[in-house]
Amino acid sequence: TWNMADFVESAIERIRAQVGDEGHVICGLSGGVDSSVVAALLHRELGERLTCVFVDNGLLRYQERERVQALFEGHFGIDLRVVDASERFLSALAGVTDPELKRKRIGELFVRVFEAEAESIENARFLAQGTLYPDVIESVSVLGPSATIKSHHNVGGLPEQMGLELIEPLRELFKDEVRVLGRALGLSAELVDRHPFPGPGLAVRVLGEITEDALRKVRQADHIFIESLRAEGLYDQVWQAFAVLLPIKTVGVMGDQRTYDEVIALRAVTSKDGMTADRGHLPMEFLGRVSDRIINQVEGVNRVVYDVTSKPPGTIEWE
Ligand code: XMP
Repeated sequence: TWNMADFVESAIERIRAQVGDEGHVICGLSGGVDSSVVAALLHRELGERLTCVFVDNGLLRYQERERVQALFEGHFGIDLRVVDASERFLSALAGVTDPELKRKRIGELFVRVFEAEAESIENARFLAQGTLYPDVIESVSVLGPSATIKSHHNVGGLPEQMGLELIEPLRELFKDEVRVLGRALGLSAELVDRHPFPGPGLAVRVLGEITEDALRKVRQADHIFIESLRAEGLYDQVWQAFAVLLPIKTVGVMGDQRTYDEVIALRAVTSKDGMTADRGHLPMEFLGRVSDRIINQVEGVNRVVYDVTSKPPGTIEWE
């Protein structure tokens, strides 16, 4: 069984041994629970020898960058840099439709951005990230590369050549353990209980080619879905919920006009650790209201479907 006090003590000890007295650590911060816990843990030991880097990759949810800035600037006393790399990410993804290629391009670019930041800081030789045990399992298969389920951006998506040494204090933990740890480190309930969000972001929720317009649609639909879940007290009843934009058009009718627009799939799952998941049992009435809002408010979408696949055989994300 897992003992948290022991875990914190040995994690800090390992960090101390790896970083030494002079080393400076760059921490990739997404604003989710995993990387926030890593930042809080490192900050205890390193103080000013820690710099968090938040990358705006253009694949973020509605107002995510502003939310993270408001939360971290000032509140934790952590040195935070926000890097706008959205143009670099979107041009690296232009024309890419293969899910694994998307993941590899994104994983590599994240590292390049962190390396560039590290160059301006003395002794910054380390990159800390919130990799969890399930990220490792799904990315690395004992049966070889063909048995990889998907390359999580922070494991299988990493480039082979890296100028920074990895620090991954949560690599043996599951999400529920990280949440316990986050609470003990004083992170707010709102942060600790947030749904997981994948590092590759909306890129793996726009099926097919990623364009600004596709990102707008999936971002607006996601925002409507999540706000509706919160408003109706359903947010905490599921492990994760999100919208996916499908690259197909279907016929509909609005007023007395024919429409020919794209499809949003809604997905909600319950799970303990993300390794397996059950379809979320959301009330049909609720889903109907969300569907109406999405079709009324998101230009270019005229149909909403609900994904009822469990994991396995589906994965949680569609790509
Ligand atoms: P799948 O889709 O593999 O997802 O069933 C399991 C959990 O992991 C999240 N996920 C990721 N998280 N980087 C991450 O940090 C990734 O590349 C990644 N891919 C999937 C997913 O949202 C779910 O919670």
